[in-house]
Amino acid sequence: MRVTVIGSGYVGLVTGACLADVGNDVLCLDVDPAKIALLEAGGICIYEPGLDEIIKRNVEAGRLRFTTDVRRAVEFGTLQLIAVGTPADEDGSADLQYVLGAARNVGKYMNDYKVVVDKSTVPVGTAAKVNAVILAELERRGLEIEFSVVSNPEFLKEGGAIDDFMRPDRIVIGSDDQNAIHIMRTLYAPFQRKHDRLLIMDTRSAELTKYAANAMLATRISFMNELALLSEKLGTDIELIRQGIGSDLRIGWHFLYPGCGYGGSCFPKDIQALLRTAAGVGEELKVLAAVDQANERQKSVLVDKVVARFGEDLTGRRFALWGLSFKPDTDDMREAPSRVIIAALLRLGACVVAYDPAAIDESRRIFGGGDDRLSYADYPMVALDGADALIIVTEWKEFRSPDFQTIKAKLKTPIIFDGRNIFDLHDDGLKGIEYFGIGRVSGMRELVFERVEQC
Ligand code: UDX
Repeated sequence: MRVTVIGSGYVGLVTGACLADVGNDVLCLDVDPAKIALLEAGGICIYEPGLDEIIKRNVEAGRLRFTTDVRRAVEFGTLQLIAVGTPADEDGSADLQYVLGAARNVGKYMNDYKVVVDKSTVPVGTAAKVNAVILAELERRGLEIEFSVVSNPEFLKEGGAIDDFMRPDRIVIGSDDQNAIHIMRTLYAPFQRKHDRLLIMDTRSAELTKYAANAMLATRISFMNELALLSEKLGTDIELIRQGIGSDLRIGWHFLYPGCGYGGSCFPKDIQALLRTAAGVGEELKVLAAVDQANERQKSVLVDKVVARFGEDLTGRRFALWGLSFKPDTDDMREAPSRVIIAALLRLGACVVAYDPAAIDESRRIFGGGDDRLSYADYPMVALDGADALIIVTEWKEFRSPDFQTIKAKLKTPIIFDGRNIFDLHDDGLKGIEYFGIGRVSGMRELVFERVEQC
């Protein structure tokens, strides 16, 4: 099939590359000539494991092309996939100017039947708006051309997007047009696994499904984070409780990991947008508002622990910080807890030496080169030299089994603040280290060892 992807950002590129990889002819459009030039030269401006190889393979095979030419892009594909950004407006609602701009261009240049697909995360009612904008353009041109608008939200996770696209849990198709549904079914046939993954519904329900999924996942995290705070007060270990409840099939294991807060380009933004949508129809989503508040608080828990240990004035203190991205396998620092933590430590007078496998450039862009109290190390262990403590913010795999002897030797005082609970309290390496996790009381490790020794 001939597919045009409008918007060559994260979602657009992953979608375009994966659709080309199963044999479609794909043309990706973007307004940014520098981005398109880079892609045409075989480069890529985002960090996503596996994406560069897929792009390269399909560009070489002639199935994946890039352009800034809007007319050419609209004329090219029977399918027009809209994958542009929906940033937050001032009041938190989703800003639809790019989505509706894309729709306008489709209406302006289309000359034959099109299936216009909303892949962007858009509020309920957007498919109808897209439809109206295209109709208005066609009317302006004095043309009557058939088209269909389909809602097909993406559920891609950064760092795992290729796998999510290639092996989806489900594919949500919002449409009541049988011809468009047939085309969408054909498009997604290569990604169906043993049983039918397609869920056909009306466009409005499809639009809400995306927000509901993210809201539910964020709710689980904030619930666990609150329970972790309670756990610290009660002297219980949240990791044991996580295992105790996750083994209940009705609850399941996913998204139960307490930490120093969720971030990224989706959860925080989508929750605000859903709260605004609800407010717009006179509903107050009290649970979701609390989820958001709990997360804001959670981003500060590591700093609270540092202050409880070292006092309010951190002047002259130096902290090693492992992990800048909002989660592993990405260089994305949007809404990342590390931003709040670094800003707070600097405000309290401390120096920070940060290490991240992918996000150091991004951090430099955000924090600028101005503050000599924030510096970066090329290797995780180098960040520890002369530091008062180690703070772990992101659970990159390479942090999970460090050489604890080296950590002890390099730190001024052997203290670890672990914002992702990446270590097992039974790990012998932790002996002699003051260890502060999330939802695990300080000194609990010694307690565990005593109990084990007593047994
Ligand atoms: C999310 C959704 O998972 C995806 O389906 C949607 O399309 C976009 O939003 P993403 O933002 O890439 O994807 O990251 P995700 O892996 O969901 O993690 C979001 C945040 O939650 C991260 O900051 C992560 O550290 C945090 N998290 C996740 C937890 O704190 N605990 C968990 O148990 C899981």
